[in-house]
Amino acid sequence: MSVHKEFKKITTHALQAMKARGERISMLTAYDYSMAKILDAGGVDVLLVGDSASNVMAGHETTLPITLDQMIYHASSVVRAVERALVVVDLPFGHYQGSSRKALAATVRIMKESGAHAVKMEGGEEIRESIERVLSAGVPVMGHLGLTPQSIYKFGTYTVRAKEEMEAKKLVKDAKLLEKIGCFAIVLEKIPAKLGKKVSETLTIPTIGIGGGKHTDGQVLVTHDMLGITKDFHPRFLRRYLNLFDEIKGAVEQYSADVKSRDFPNDKEQY
Ligand code: KIV
Repeated sequence: MSVHKEFKKITTHALQAMKARGERISMLTAYDYSMAKILDAGGVDVLLVGDSASNVMAGHETTLPITLDQMIYHASSVVRAVERALVVVDLPFGHYQGSSRKALAATVRIMKESGAHAVKMEGGEEIRESIERVLSAGVPVMGHLGLTPQSIYKFGTYTVRAKEEMEAKKLVKDAKLLEKIGCFAIVLEKIPAKLGKKVSETLTIPTIGIGGGKHTDGQVLVTHDMLGITKDFHPRFLRRYLNLFDEIKGAVEQYSADVKSRDFPNDKEQY
């Protein structure tokens, strides 16, 4: 399969040009150097250092516990690996809700210490001030609407958002606001496909869906889910491209058996 490589390095402007000419945007999560190197070589347009690292890398139940220092550690590992992709970093919970000064301080640390290219924040009108302050410092911001996992205790469940008219109307209003104040793209998580289509057609900035249907301008998945490293997560929107949990487990079982049977190392595998 050939990968479109018109852009040497992906910028926020490149993403907007892709939307303008109808080219879909691919985005995956990355948390470490080795995986980011593979994903970048595979031609993915955007790497998201998601706060899903809290679940995937650290085993927490939610994204809330991950710290700013931990996000910076993950982001700097990813940035060192990347030659082409745009690297976007989630602002962790507690660093932008209610304080735009805190949002800017966290963003400055992320940008200076990791070398990432942009940040992402969850929410609409409620976090407008934080987004505006970060944008005014010259840092590109990606929005995130629909199911926003940092608010899981408010929602109480990870089911599809904005099925009701009132919530759908608020989402459209928030999406327009994020575009107006200067966000370069918006993630739409777990919303009806019809609503994903409406928002994508209304905005000129790209929408990136995860469970947002086939009409969003791009798609994002958690890498460990699409590669089948995680096993017990089966949302409808997830397409698994590999079953690495079982493949890696098989390799480990074989290695262990080889060590115990003294098959490994053999004469050629020693000095
Ligand atoms: O943290 C994350 O991985 C995300 C994606 C699910 C969009 O925000």
